[in-house]
Amino acid sequence: MVREIVIYPDKRLKLISKKVEVFDEKIHALLDDMYDTMIAKNGVGLAAIQIGVDLRALIINIPLEEADAEHSQPKENTLEMINPAIIEMDGSTHFQEGCLSVPGVYEDVNRAKHVKVEYQDRFGNTHIIEDDDFLAIAMQHEIDHLEGRVFVEKLSYTKRKKFEKEWKRRSKPA
Ligand code: CO
Repeated sequence: MVREIVIYPDKRLKLISKKVEVFDEKIHALLDDMYDTMIAKNGVGLAAIQIGVDLRALIINIPLEEADAEHSQPKENTLEMINPAIIEMDGSTHFQEGCLSVPGVYEDVNRAKHVKVEYQDRFGNTHIIEDDDFLAIAMQHEIDHLEGRVFVEKLSYTKRKKFEKEWKRRSKPA
């Protein structure tokens, strides 16, 4: 089921999400709704709080190899992460990020180049994944949501000011 996206600066985006303790059909339904919502909105990642649920769950679309890119994104290519924790990070890089909670805004953000993340799947099994490419950036962006952080808060003072002014102007009813 497609759910409504929580839009910046909604206060819920500031919540620190809670650890998932029970891996039952309720968490499965949440992950399925997150998937439906991400696909409907053409997103590449989504944290539970972005549909108003303060649980430590996120999903990321793993980019397909170019040969497969003409086919639609299969669900098997979606990484589901519950209670993720960054256990190693190093290097630095930057990437133009966007977010379904800040629609239409794309800004360069500094991140670690390489991360290693421990997480649980929807059944509670523990996994470790590491990456130094798109997935590394996406994981840092989504894990930030679980800590109540949105990517625009990482912009430099000047860029942030400019963004806030523009965002206020745009959010005003016409
Ligand atoms: Co986001």
